Amino acid sequence: MKHLVFLLLPFFTLSEVVDNFSKCSEFFLNNKPPEFTPATGNTVKHICQCLWGDKKQQIYLYATLYSTTWKIPIYSAYVFGSPNIGRCDAWYIEPQLDGDTKPKCMQPKGKDKTIGTNQALNCDYADSDYDKGHLYPVLHTNNHLSMLATSTLTNAAPQDPNFNQGSWLKNERDVMKDLKSCDKAYVVTGVVPNLDEEKMNEKVTVSKYYWRATCCQKKNQQDIQKAYYGPDNNDKVQEVTILELEEGLRGFFNVPFKIFPTIKRQRE
Ligand SMILES: *[C@@H]1O[C@H](CO)[C@@H](O)[C@H](O)[C@H]1NC(C)=O
Repeated sequence: MKHLVFLLLPFFTLSEVVDNFSKCSEFFLNNKPPEFTPATGNTVKHICQCLWGDKKQQIYLYATLYSTTWKIPIYSAYVFGSPNIGRCDAWYIEPQLDGDTKPKCMQPKGKDKTIGTNQALNCDYADSDYDKGHLYPVLHTNNHLSMLATSTLTNAAPQDPNFNQGSWLKNERDVMKDLKSCDKAYVVTGVVPNLDEEKMNEKVTVSKYYWRATCCQKKNQQDIQKAYYGPDNNDKVQEVTILELEEGLRGFFNVPFKIFPTIKRQRE
């Protein structure tokens, strides 16, 4: 595996900053991204996360909404795949966020002095007490390309190591078991920023909560949606309804947040 990573990385890591998610809408339930317009003062970029294929084609693997204000993602959306053991330790950045117009590639590091103005870099995490907490986790990938592509810094936020390696990892595993029998499952995983906490390296906003919403589709059955967030006061992950999660997010972001805009919303 190490060998493969070494051979392939220089050629095909790439992600594309786009005006909207139309190029990678397949990662959203019914092709509809979450409805979320950030409050003023929070600038976000749409990223269709992709890699170069061996025929020089772009292979889209998931989608990320990234805040260049906070320098962490708001969410990553992906289609769940069965587990794949193994990891890529290389971390990538997104040159386009810092004004590079070409190539549209994740890169091991920026050549440019302005790199890092709008995004977190590996060195921002280096002496911190935080883990790089994946939004789209390796455990939810089912192929090498997706696995490699999760290792971009635009898919990570500073996360408490105990939570990252404890309850949140357990949730990744629980969700994996839960979604395994679905014909297809859509997942959106996001971060709530902690705006009161000191920024990492005086630059990167750290996370307060991680959240996840899933939609499991099976033939001839109604879709099943579930939602989670953590850490709660006991450092655990709570399961909630999609509506409860959306209400919570509305409270934090001060704007409406519909994770799966096309699902039926029952009023009590
Ligand atoms: C998405 O962006 C593309 C490219 O900029 C544009 O042509 C298209 O109209 C946009 N679609 C929507 C729904 O805004």
